[in-house]
Amino acid sequence: MATLLRLSLFYAIPIAFLSGLCFAADPAVSYDFKLSYITASPLGVPQQVIAVNGKFPGPTINVTTNYNVIVNVHNGLDEPFLMTWPGIQMRKNSWQDGVIGTNCPILAKWNWTYNFQVKDQIGSFFYSPSLNLQRASGGFGPFVVNNRDIIPVPFGQPDGDIILTIGDWYTRNHTALRSSLDDGKDLGMPDGVLINGKGPFRYNTSLVPDGISYETVNVAPGKTYRFRVHNVGTLTSLNFRIQSHNLLLVETEGTYTVQQNYTSLDIHVGQSFSFLVAMDQNASSDYYIVASARFVNESLWQRVTGVAVLHYSNSKGPATGPLPDPPNDVYDKTMSMNQAKSIRQNVTSSGARPNPQGSFHYGSINVTDSYFLKAVAPVTIDGKLRTSLNGISFHNLTTPVKLADQYNVKGIYKLDFPSKPLDRPPKIDVSLINATYKGFIEVVFQNNDTVMQSFHIDGYSFFVVGMDYGDWTENSRGSYNRWDAISRSTTQVYPGGWTAVLISLDSPGVWNIRTENLDRWYLGQETYMRIVNPEENGETEMAAPANVLYCGALANKQKPQEQSSSAITISRVKLRLLMTILWGVLAYFSILC
Ligand SMILES: *[C@@H]1O[C@H](CO)[C@@H](O)[C@H](O)[C@H]1NC(C)=O
Ligand SMILES: *[C@@H]1O[C@H](CO)[C@@H](O)[C@H](O)[C@H]1NC(C)=O
Ligand SMILES: *[C@@H]1O[C@H](CO)[C@@H](O)[C@H](O)[C@H]1NC(C)=O
Ligand SMILES: *[C@@H]1O[C@H](CO)[C@@H](O)[C@H](O)[C@H]1NC(C)=O
Ligand SMILES: *[C@@H]1O[C@H](CO)[C@@H](O)[C@H](O)[C@H]1NC(C)=O
Ligand SMILES: *[C@@H]1O[C@H](CO)[C@@H](O)[C@H](O)[C@H]1NC(C)=O
Ligand SMILES: *[C@@H]1O[C@H](CO)[C@@H](O)[C@H](O)[C@H]1NC(C)=O
Ligand SMILES: *[C@@H]1O[C@H](CO)[C@@H](O)[C@H](O)[C@H]1NC(C)=O
Ligand SMILES: *[C@@H]1O[C@H](CO)[C@@H](O)[C@H](O)[C@H]1NC(C)=O
Ligand SMILES: *[C@@H]1O[C@H](CO)[C@@H](O)[C@H](O)[C@H]1NC(C)=O
Ligand SMILES: *[C@@H]1O[C@H](CO)[C@@H](O)[C@H](O)[C@H]1NC(C)=O
Ligand SMILES: *[C@@H]1O[C@H](CO)[C@@H](O)[C@H](O)[C@H]1NC(C)=O
Repeated sequence: MATLLRLSLFYAIPIAFLSGLCFAADPAVSYDFKLSYITASPLGVPQQVIAVNGKFPGPTINVTTNYNVIVNVHNGLDEPFLMTWPGIQMRKNSWQDGVIGTNCPILAKWNWTYNFQVKDQIGSFFYSPSLNLQRASGGFGPFVVNNRDIIPVPFGQPDGDIILTIGDWYTRNHTALRSSLDDGKDLGMPDGVLINGKGPFRYNTSLVPDGISYETVNVAPGKTYRFRVHNVGTLTSLNFRIQSHNLLLVETEGTYTVQQNYTSLDIHVGQSFSFLVAMDQNASSDYYIVASARFVNESLWQRVTGVAVLHYSNSKGPATGPLPDPPNDVYDKTMSMNQAKSIRQNVTSSGARPNPQGSFHYGSINVTDSYFLKAVAPVTIDGKLRTSLNGISFHNLTTPVKLADQYNVKGIYKLDFPSKPLDRPPKIDVSLINATYKGFIEVVFQNNDTVMQSFHIDGYSFFVVGMDYGDWTENSRGSYNRWDAISRSTTQVYPGGWTAVLISLDSPGVWNIRTENLDRWYLGQETYMRIVNPEENGETEMAAPANVLYCGALANKQKPQEQSSSAITISRVKLRLLMTILWGVLAYFSILC
């Protein structure tokens, strides 16, 4: 007993120092994620897809805000792997972010345990692989963060939760797609759209081959369901709609929206939305759930359409006839942009804390730094097809930034990312943004590429204050929404247009800014913001976790991983002991809190 107490104190002290006294009172939930290849034929063609625990898509992480989430990722693939958690803010803890600038890859047959807290966030997210186009083969799954009971939700309790991952899909796997890009070729048109890892319902016998398994969503008449829809695809914006049903938009990436009905909504790569859908139809038949390619020539891209079935328990038969129409605006993309601008936050509803979402008056804060990031169509640099931002095509870091800092390894990166495009030829480089802690910054994404792009920033939610076609100018600031702009982590940037976001840099760390279009990302369209707290020499940041992996310039510090069964047995015993101790600590601190 005395030993246990001494041990508890031994663990309690560093834990308390790390995260404040009440950290230990927050519950922890553990997941084991085993990554492997399985054979699946979502579009009728057998192929290797990436499964998590044998499932494609992977299992749902379903937690409550403030939980500590522990995910032991076992890489059963034949190549390095990292899982990332877009939209989960990892406050002051970029060590867990799972991108190549913050983490060494988990080598084939190795495992690594992520451990992070989901703090002050509620909403719909997903996890996905971050390296080497792997997301194009799977490895993704939903990530739901629920409210604590004491925090109200701005709508009635729905009768059920329905999660849909939608995304374009190639019958070629990620290694084949990589070869195309390495050879300087475009990925071309996807072969279809999957909904929850399944191909389309056979709504048209000449367009959809026989024998494809499709997703069926079972519902009861009169009920209202919360649909959480995520575009986990490679590069295609999708228009989402449910035949004869309204989509009442309520949340996007952790922010409650002004509640409005849409007959269809554009969901861009990497984006997540929640809708309430009332089962208010007469069930004369099943209904189509459709995700179709957007901003492309529909007659050429017909096969890039996902179709699932909404089945009422009292349905009188299968869905028949044509799919509900997509928006008819091939020559006028104003409609889509107006729809995007109509998505605003409900400033009076409470977010993850009891205070209103609009209580942070972002519109009246002075901007400290502006970054104008220009994306252009892929170009050849040093004989290779590459993409860039401000003329810099990001060269992958060999050693994570924080580790290089901690061990004082020089020459890993430069802090010279230009705040606007320079008049010089594009180059491949490891340039990061030297961002200022506690700064309030404006980032303008200018899309000079020919395709719709999604841009994402790790570690933060940002206010999407403006978007338009044409070139951004200083006068564009006059059009910013300074009152109820949506706060999210992934925004679309229309081709030939711009999107402006505002961010409060209150979380030190190293945070990835990237396009979510996998081909553009793979070819170098990303950078990082390095944010340190100068007063405390980065001490407000969490320290490196005990299990941190080393690589690159620090590879000699990495011990080999033992994977023998005896090692696992021993570590299980150790784990049990550790858990006993931790529970003691939890009990101790729950009394204090
Ligand atoms: C991907 O496809 C190629 C053929 O295009 C095949 O050689 C390779 O084994 C596949 N990789 C995986 C991991 O399934
Ligand atoms: C998540 O867990 C909550 C309870 O904490 C439960 O009510 C809900 O149905 C679960 N959702 C999913 C998608 O599993
Ligand atoms: C690998 O998994 C084992 C349990 O299977 C665990 O004890 C160990 O901590 C994990 N390794 C890392 C680096 O997280
Ligand atoms: C560079 O890293 C990105 C992810 O950050 C990855 O998609 C890409 O494959 C990497 N490129 C190379 C050449 O390793
Ligand atoms: C905004 O949230 C409040 C508080 O939860 C709610 O009463 C109101 O209906 C919401 N308004 C809209 C337009 O969504
Ligand atoms: C099936 O699709 C083809 C090609 O678009 C079209 O010509 C045909 O009319 C469709 N069939 C039905 C029954 O809708
Ligand atoms: C949305 O549509 C439903 C019918 O599907 C209707 O009952 C509801 O009042 C509408 N809500 C709003 C905010 O327009
Ligand atoms: C059910 O509704 C559809 C239109 O929504 C209508 O065409 C059909 O006649 C209705 N069927 C019955 C049995 O009411
Ligand atoms: C779409 O493609 C078809 C077939 O190539 C062509 O006839 C049509 O003009 C194209 N439509 C547009 C809007 O470009
Ligand atoms: C913002 O800047 C203006 C002038 O540059 C200054 O007058 C104002 O006090 C500043 N506001 C805040 C909140 O710092
Ligand atoms: C980064 O910015 C800080 C001020 O925020 C400055 O002191 C430092 O010199 C900059 N570092 C580099 C390498 O430019
Ligand atoms: C890209 O920039 C060039 C030069 O400013 C301009 O002529 C062209 O229209 C732009 N293209 C797009 C798609 O924005």
